[in-house]
Amino acid sequence: MKQEPIKRIVPVNRIILGITGGIAAYKAAEFARLLIKQGVEVQVVMTEAACHFITPATMQALTGRPVLVNQWDATPNGMAHIATSRAADAIVIAPASADFIAKLTHGLADDLLSTLCLARNCPLIVAPAMNREMWLNAATQRNVKQLVADGVQVLGPDSGVQACGEEGMGRMLEAAELARDVGRVLTRHSDSVGLKPDLRGQKIIITAGPTYEAIDAVRGITNRSSGKMGYAIAQAALELGAEVTLISGPTAQPKPQGAQCVDVQSAEQMFDAVKQHLSGCAIFIGVAAVADYRVAQPSVQKIKKSAAPLTLELVPNPDILAYVANLPNPPFCVGFAAESENLAEYAEAKRRAKKLPLLVGNLAQQAIGSDDNELILFDDSGRQTLPRADKLTLARQLMQRIAQRNQGVLK
Ligand code: PMT
Repeated sequence: MKQEPIKRIVPVNRIILGITGGIAAYKAAEFARLLIKQGVEVQVVMTEAACHFITPATMQALTGRPVLVNQWDATPNGMAHIATSRAADAIVIAPASADFIAKLTHGLADDLLSTLCLARNCPLIVAPAMNREMWLNAATQRNVKQLVADGVQVLGPDSGVQACGEEGMGRMLEAAELARDVGRVLTRHSDSVGLKPDLRGQKIIITAGPTYEAIDAVRGITNRSSGKMGYAIAQAALELGAEVTLISGPTAQPKPQGAQCVDVQSAEQMFDAVKQHLSGCAIFIGVAAVADYRVAQPSVQKIKKSAAPLTLELVPNPDILAYVANLPNPPFCVGFAAESENLAEYAEAKRRAKKLPLLVGNLAQQAIGSDDNELILFDDSGRQTLPRADKLTLARQLMQRIAQRNQGVLK
């Protein structure tokens, strides 16, 4: 099964891409495509001049949204500049012409793009693109210096052969470089203002509870997992805006509102349900206490009691987490390990064996069935303890960490 990797280098959900007049406008198309691939909503706003270099139809086709050009186009509240800028997490102007940079510097607002830049309350990033003499001109240099002093992030330009045939500084950064640098700028910004990580639009599968392996019509093998930890994690992921699929063995937990809940009994059923829902999954969290073995031949009828000893043959169950983590293009996989002793050693060994970026360890005797817990997170950088607390508090802390990694804030 082919899946998109979750690594998002741009840690925001909605970007206004402003395109101004310049030959580098064609690079904006690839830049928009890269953002969209990462799940970012892109609203393109173009100046009149930009429309001479690339058509709104191209950008609309790439982003799936009508492109805004005219300040006077009707909007529901008649305030396109306010409504559009308020809906954005950041504005990126790429390419930013010398003329547009001059406008920004002086706070001019004579078209939709310049007006919404002035009206914004989110970070503004510009990627200049122009002829080298225009770039080196004292007026442009003065303007750029002023923009930086005003807190605007200027990315590039690069040097090289220019569209006009001259060589020097003034080329807009290539789309991939720009996406990477925009990601870095916005990650620093999120850190500095303490933005809550966000999982909107991300599909997360969580397994929870025990499994039940039938011995006969009425008896079975199970364990004491209550589902509390897994359900709390589902709740915490929903609070961050994720699309949650909760695949659970038998528990008495109330279903988290807003999650897609799939009830299963056995490990094999859980495995089938996971495979069925995997498409588009960005994050997989295995909290379930899956039975390692099942009865080779469960009896359809109730086994009658007799004086003779009864031997059950057990065969290994499929390892669901190991299967998901070893897919060619796996989602970000988080495993759990409940150990009764040597927690650090066994948990780290499980993490390596299943090739997991993150494994959460807990002491079985304290964790299973209880209302609170203590978690130890193991990853490539070492370990971190989330001290004893109720399971929902821990789930929220864990999901914050997973979301930050997903947004590229943490490595
Ligand atoms: O439900 P609660 O009462 O709140 O308790 C929570 C918990 C103690 C069950 C939970 O915090 C926990 O630790 N779950 C993992 C239990 C465990 O020890 O699993 P394991 O060591 O057998 O497996 C390691 C990992 O592989 C787990 O993520 C498990 O979901 C997964 N696994 C294991 C076997 C298998 N066949 N398929 C799997 O996916």
